[in-house]
Amino acid sequence: MQLKVYESLTLKVGLCLMLMLTSLAGRAAGIQLQNLRCEMLTDPLGIDVLNPRLSWEITSPARGLKQSAYRILVASQADKLEEGKADLWDSGKKNSDESQHVVYSGKQLKSKDKAYWKVIVWTNDGSTSSSGISRWSMGLLNPVDWRGRWIGLDRAFKWDDEGQWSRLSARYFRKEFDAKKTIKSASVYIMGMGMYELYINGAAIGNQVLAPVPTDYTKGVKYNVFDVTDCLKSGLNTIGTVLGNGRFYTMRQSYKPYKIKTFGYPKMLLNLELTYTDGTTETITTDDTWKVTADGPIRSNNEYDGEEYDATKEMPGWNRTGFDDTKWLKAEYVQEPGGMYEAQMTPNMRIMSTLKPVSIKYLKPGVYIMDMGQNMAGWIKMRVKGKRGTAVSLRFAETLQKDGELFLENMRDAKVNDLYILKGEGVETWQPSFVYHGFRYVEIKGYPGTPKVEDFEGEVIYDEMKTVGSFETSDRTINQVYNNAYWGILGNYKGMPVDCPQRNERQPWLGDRKTGAYGESFIFNNGRLYAKWLDDIQQAQKADGSIPDVAPAFWRYYGDNTTWPGTYIAVADMLLHQYGDVRSVERHYESMKKWIVYMSERYMEKDLMTKDKYGDWCVPPESKEMIHSRDPKRQTDGVLIATATFYDLLRKMENFASIVNQAEDASRYKVLAERLKVAFNDKFLDKTTFQYGNNTVTANLLPLYYDMVPADVKAKVFNNIEEKILVENKGHISTGVIGTQMLMRGLTENGRSDIAFKIATNRDYPSWGYMVENGATTIWELWNGNTASPKMNSQNHVMLLGDLVVWYYENLAGIKSADRSAFKQMVMKPTLPEGLNYVKSSYYSAYGRVVSNWTRNAKSFNWDVEVPVNTTAVISIPAKSGKDVKESGKSASGSKGVKFIKMEDGRAVFEIGSGQYKFTSNL
Ligand code: BGC
Repeated sequence: MQLKVYESLTLKVGLCLMLMLTSLAGRAAGIQLQNLRCEMLTDPLGIDVLNPRLSWEITSPARGLKQSAYRILVASQADKLEEGKADLWDSGKKNSDESQHVVYSGKQLKSKDKAYWKVIVWTNDGSTSSSGISRWSMGLLNPVDWRGRWIGLDRAFKWDDEGQWSRLSARYFRKEFDAKKTIKSASVYIMGMGMYELYINGAAIGNQVLAPVPTDYTKGVKYNVFDVTDCLKSGLNTIGTVLGNGRFYTMRQSYKPYKIKTFGYPKMLLNLELTYTDGTTETITTDDTWKVTADGPIRSNNEYDGEEYDATKEMPGWNRTGFDDTKWLKAEYVQEPGGMYEAQMTPNMRIMSTLKPVSIKYLKPGVYIMDMGQNMAGWIKMRVKGKRGTAVSLRFAETLQKDGELFLENMRDAKVNDLYILKGEGVETWQPSFVYHGFRYVEIKGYPGTPKVEDFEGEVIYDEMKTVGSFETSDRTINQVYNNAYWGILGNYKGMPVDCPQRNERQPWLGDRKTGAYGESFIFNNGRLYAKWLDDIQQAQKADGSIPDVAPAFWRYYGDNTTWPGTYIAVADMLLHQYGDVRSVERHYESMKKWIVYMSERYMEKDLMTKDKYGDWCVPPESKEMIHSRDPKRQTDGVLIATATFYDLLRKMENFASIVNQAEDASRYKVLAERLKVAFNDKFLDKTTFQYGNNTVTANLLPLYYDMVPADVKAKVFNNIEEKILVENKGHISTGVIGTQMLMRGLTENGRSDIAFKIATNRDYPSWGYMVENGATTIWELWNGNTASPKMNSQNHVMLLGDLVVWYYENLAGIKSADRSAFKQMVMKPTLPEGLNYVKSSYYSAYGRVVSNWTRNAKSFNWDVEVPVNTTAVISIPAKSGKDVKESGKSASGSKGVKFIKMEDGRAVFEIGSGQYKFTSNL
């Protein structure tokens, strides 16, 4: 049996996964008890939650294994724990199968405290195991714990430009200090706005890029924490930081100020806490003894327009001791950003993978076009050799024009242009610091000599998180669309989920992720990122309850709406269902309620929700050049969409209310939902044709999926959907961002997985396969993304995925959590549409790995299933009878860990516990 421990999160939700310079991993791995091996996850440093939640994973091949008891031990020092002295908390032996989110209930922790912990578990087979040691540390919990002041330079310089395409050079800060004694430990706490790079004695601290994650800095400012013990020494040391603009000094200073929020010039607050071996401590803080220059190599850095780096302006040794900074300026005290100081509980972005270009082709004198073979988000790392002062320009685009030039029109006014000026000292390697681009093609201009593939690398940047899902089928279209979804999703994680990574937008639009977040969670461990996003949404809420369409509200879109802001509730529900994250519900309940009350009081008329802004956004339009359809037959009534959506949100709130013990609220939501349902059916259901509204697929599907349709007419409503798709649309999709969110599951749940399969595998317009057929390597913003106006035509948006990824995992693979159990219980019922011969899939849940690999032929169905320790699954196998099902060649019912339950709809239903199984049945 193997045990992995990790801190799951906290009231603040999420944990800080800063890279540590010293890690206990080695030590922990050395602890072996009873065949137990431990694997450490990154240690969380500097969290700001007093009662963090602790989780562990038990791995073992044993069948039917469950935890029967646990004991958590927490100590202030690792040695103490090794000696069995839990001076912070000893939970005692608890008879419980709980292994997720156990709340720390020991001594109250203070700022900077460290906690080392392990867990002992007992299992139902009578064995006991102990984990290795993991740790967390507390951040600076109170504003007064921060010493020193915010420093910066609140002005632009003569080379800067604050116009529509703002340019501002990066600011370099340095501070030398004398550590007079021997250092025992040292931690840095940094808030560097908009983005920082941190160096100590010339060494880069951490492997994060574009840090910290963006927030509305007037509401919340994230700090990062690093253990830097190993980088310091007694005597003189030097801290260096570089501040880039990020979303702080925003990209468009003087452009539409009513819409685009700006925060000011870059600034920072830093504390370096030193503990000496004699027990004394010292804090190095930001103050006006720091020196600063804005005249370094990064001449401009702007998320939309690119970065310019002049290597002739490099300042060798600037971040090391002894550099002559007499020409640098004195750092100035500046105003604090305004937001609360918050520990960053979601990991930063990192270079998560690299791509080699597939080709570089000559276009015209001095100009080459490089193809990365994949639409990606990140930057290019380049090697170049040439004369001092030579300028190499890299420009980025998603597609090419017919003549081979970059197609830049869909970037709108983003200049997407990096510039590197050589210093002329042998081979120079460069990548930018404070920008990223969304691109497949790169125009290389001014490169000395002939650029070669070996000299370039695409560095793919997104939030550090595990890829938890894998999915492959016998269908090539599904596989390629899955691959496109994978690239699209990761490319749009930028410390928040953005709509697109390339044009002058890159905004965290709520509506795009309402169901998307759920599908994405099968591929990426996105729980912390989305928990952080809920905080962003909460911070964006107005005092009266209004929630914008974009949060953080870098673009101010406060017009009120139901569908986009409803994502607040939908994402909290996703975190509950997939991750068991009750704290997010608790933390946001009052704000969600406030929004519900606000919307009800303001926009409910005769029990209908009347406020809608975007309709069923981006349905396939009537002509291939159009962005939005003007054909009323394709559009769905906004009141219908808003009312059905609000109904579903009320149902979710009813559940949340019972979780937070607000029984009265729960019944109020219930009553209100019932009233909405009655009014909705009165208004929109035609009692003779059983059509809702104007009979679009979306109009019928919303009430059907949300269970608003009277039982006796459900089948007839569904008939309308079938007919619309099969007859009128000849088996094609006709939904936009709203309807697509329940299309695949809605069809499947109503017995027509064949139609869902047809839609999923089409290769003609409109379909996901049509995107593939036309060369897409990500998902388009528009169904007609190859022909529509470039005004709003990103090649890398994820909103049209709807519930496709959920359908891949839950329906095709059959990997599904039972209602809100976060995979403690699973319902595994793979759908076998005609034409699909195998699915090979896995998902790494909080409990461990779930596997579903099935194949079928005319005669038989074979299914390899794996279920983690401490979980159970109800599995459903197509078979004539229970007896007809075999497991590892023997009758399944007699097999260890397998219990026959019943026959249902031509399937044998069993319950299984942990372990690996090989089922076969005759079809
Ligand atoms: C964005 C979408 C967004 C929509 C809503 C577009 O510009 O790219 O992702 O949801 O606007 O209006």
